[in-house]
Amino acid sequence: MKVSSALKFLTEALTQKLPEDRAKREALEILAHLLRVSPLNVWLKLEEEVPNETLNHILSRRLTGKPLPYILGIAYFFGRPFYVERGVLIPRPETEVLIEHFLEVAPPQGVILDLGIGSGILAITILLERPNYIAFGVDISKEALKVAQRNANLHGVSSRLYLILGDALKPFKEKPLFTAIVSNPPYISEEEFETLDEEVRLFEPRVALVSGETGLEFYELILKHAPKLLQDGGFILVELGYNQGKPFYELAKTLGYKVDFKKDLLGYQRSAVIWREENTS
Ligand SMILES: C[S@@+](CC[C@H](N)C(=O)[O-])C[C@H]1O[C@@H](n2cnc3c(N)ncnc32)[C@H](O)[C@@H]1O
Repeated sequence: MKVSSALKFLTEALTQKLPEDRAKREALEILAHLLRVSPLNVWLKLEEEVPNETLNHILSRRLTGKPLPYILGIAYFFGRPFYVERGVLIPRPETEVLIEHFLEVAPPQGVILDLGIGSGILAITILLERPNYIAFGVDISKEALKVAQRNANLHGVSSRLYLILGDALKPFKEKPLFTAIVSNPPYISEEEFETLDEEVRLFEPRVALVSGETGLEFYELILKHAPKLLQDGGFILVELGYNQGKPFYELAKTLGYKVDFKKDLLGYQRSAVIWREENTS
C-alpha cells in the first residue's frame, strides 16, 4: 500500500479506539517505524510502498489495547529513540521538563544518581547532553536494568553508566557521592491507580507507577535520605505528578527544605529542585 493511503487507512482504523489527534500521531509513528525515518519525515515519503501484511499485524495488535511503544519497541525522549518493552515504563513527554531543569541548574561536570532508572531515559539523556558526567542508575526491577543497559549501548554511554539492582538508596553508604540525585519515582496513590487508563493499568509495570497509599511515599524517602549522599552544593531533582506541587511543597517545608519548581507546558509544577545547603541538619 502507498504511504499516503496507509496514513489514511491507519488513522481511520485507530480513531475507533483513540482520539483523532492521537490516532494521527500513532499512524505516523507506525509508518515512520516501517520506513525507518522519524515521524516528521513520513510526509516526504508519501509515494513509497509499505507492506500490507506488516501494517495489518501492527494495527491488529494495537487494537487489542497494547500501547504502541511496546509493539514497535521504541519511544522517543528528548528527540532520541529509546528501546522499550513491557517491564519498563513508557517515557512520557512531561518528563522532558526534568531534563530542561537539570540543564538549567547543574554544573558542567559531576556524578549523578538516577533513582528508579527504568528504561534509562534520564541518566542517558544527561550523559549525552553533558559529556563530562558519569551516572549511576538503580532500579528494583531486573527487566528495567536490562533495558537501561541496552539503551546505554545504543547511545554509546555504557562506559559512563553504572547500573545497580537494589531498593531505592539502600545500595549506597551515607557518603557525599553525588552532584545530583535525579528521579522520576513512582508517584501514583493506590486509589488513583484504579482510575488510570486501562492501557496504563493493564500493560505498564505497577511497580513503576504506584508509590503507596498517598503517592508521596517515595518523595518522603528521597527527601529524608538523599541529602546525606549529596556533595556540597548538590541537589535533588524529582518529577512530580500534575497535582503534586502543593503537597510536595508542604512535605519539603516540614522537613526544612525550600523548593524551586519548573512548570510543564500545561502550567503544572512538574519538576522540583531541592538544594543540599538548605538543610544543614
Ligand atoms: C516512574 S518509573 C521511571 C522510569 C524512568 N526513570 C522514566 O522516567 O521513564 C519508576 C522506576 O522506579 C523503579 N522503582 C520502583 N520502586 C523502586 C525501589 N524501591 N527501588 C528502586 N527502584 C524502584 C521502577 O522499577 C521504575 O523503573
